[in-house]
Amino acid sequence: MLLSITQYGNPVLRAVSAPVEHVDEAIVALANNMIETMYAANGIGLAAPQVGENIRLVVIDIPEDEEEGAEPEMATVNGELRPIRDIMPLVFINPTLEPYGKQELFTEGCLSVHNVRANVSRLDHVKATLPQLDGSVLEVDCGGLLARCLQHECDHLDGFLFTDRVSSASKITLAKKLKKLAQSQGY
Ligand code: NI
Repeated sequence: MLLSITQYGNPVLRAVSAPVEHVDEAIVALANNMIETMYAANGIGLAAPQVGENIRLVVIDIPEDEEEGAEPEMATVNGELRPIRDIMPLVFINPTLEPYGKQELFTEGCLSVHNVRANVSRLDHVKATLPQLDGSVLEVDCGGLLARCLQHECDHLDGFLFTDRVSSASKITLAKKLKKLAQSQGY
């Protein structure tokens, strides 16, 4: 089932989400609907607040780079080096992230912030503990797009948007656009 994606200005995007204490059928159904909604919107990640639920649940699917000769993106998963495709779609609850490495600028967008893209500086690697719906845990150590996406999605769980992480100059440039965006949503 497709869910409607909450848009900039909606207070649900600004709240700190609660841990998922118990995985029941409703959580599994929500995760499946979030995956379907993410695919339909051509996104690579979606956090529960983006479908109106303030709980710590995230789905991610980073597609394979289809360019000929492109090396598959790799990550260490539970101590084993594997293509990240092996763990997609990635669904997790109550994540813990430990970003490390060097600051890197990369252009981000967000399904909850229509038609806005901006450069965001983040650390280029992440160690992540990602509890799965079945009770197992993935320990992931990665760089690349997955490290970027994990940080962006987990920010949503704490009420942060990528537009909070841009340079102060970009904040000034974006301010009008964001205000209009919120107003267009009736906020
Ligand atoms: Ni987002």
